[in-house]
Amino acid sequence: MAEVVIVENPAAAGELVAAEIERLVRERPDAVLGLATGSTPLPVYEALRRRVGALELGRVRGFALDEYVGLDPAHPESYRSVITREVVEPLGLDPRLVRVPDGGAATIRHAGDDYEAAIAEAGGVDLQILGIGTDGHIGFNEPGSSFASRTRVKTLTEQTRSDNARFFASIDDVPRHCITQGLGTILEARHLVLLAFGEQKAQAIAAAVEGPLSAMLPGSAIQLHPHTTVVVDEAAASLLAQADYYRYTFAHKPDWQGL
Ligand code: F6R
Repeated sequence: MAEVVIVENPAAAGELVAAEIERLVRERPDAVLGLATGSTPLPVYEALRRRVGALELGRVRGFALDEYVGLDPAHPESYRSVITREVVEPLGLDPRLVRVPDGGAATIRHAGDDYEAAIAEAGGVDLQILGIGTDGHIGFNEPGSSFASRTRVKTLTEQTRSDNARFFASIDDVPRHCITQGLGTILEARHLVLLAFGEQKAQAIAAAVEGPLSAMLPGSAIQLHPHTTVVVDEAAASLLAQADYYRYTFAHKPDWQGL
């Protein structure tokens, strides 16, 4: 089962995950990171930013999880722009080493296959950062997504569009389609780190960690992975039946084990 770590606040989660990324990059300076966008991973990126200078990230390679289809890459809310603004520039990554799926009309038919090939060529993702949608999606694999799915175009649910409307002037501006790594793609990363904060994520987290495996709750795919770490605050952990066990386990974890 996934290791569940319940932390005091998002900043503590950011520190914990950044420390794990630091350990990885010190061991492997050209490590491959799977990069999530949205609000959840920001504390991780902030904690990494505090390490810049002491930690050299210029050889790190990155693959974003997803991108909107039909949004100009120059739009401030395209995931290309978000990754550039929140990750590449502040952390001093080499932009040539960081890929985002191409949601443009000219290449969309083969963009999924191209992305899969690029991930394979990089040798796969070492550590995949994940958030979770209130409807249980990871990446933009909406309910019903196959556990074997690969990078492809998906239609966003109205729930996801409305959750993401906060980034746009109005909900009408939120794209209806996206291109996302599939659940099968995500499951091939060597280490999954799923973060969630706030009460609005509690149901999705409980279902993903403790519920039955179901394509209707795509986040439950993490149960198929041998190395998943779930980092949540108290509010997002509030519906976990085994919360006390997770606290006990983490408190008694051997020092050598790492995340
Ligand atoms: C983002 C992504 C999504 C988000 C999820 C949660 O690249 O793939 O799965 O992680 O929608 O979004 P936030 O973090 O904004 O609540």
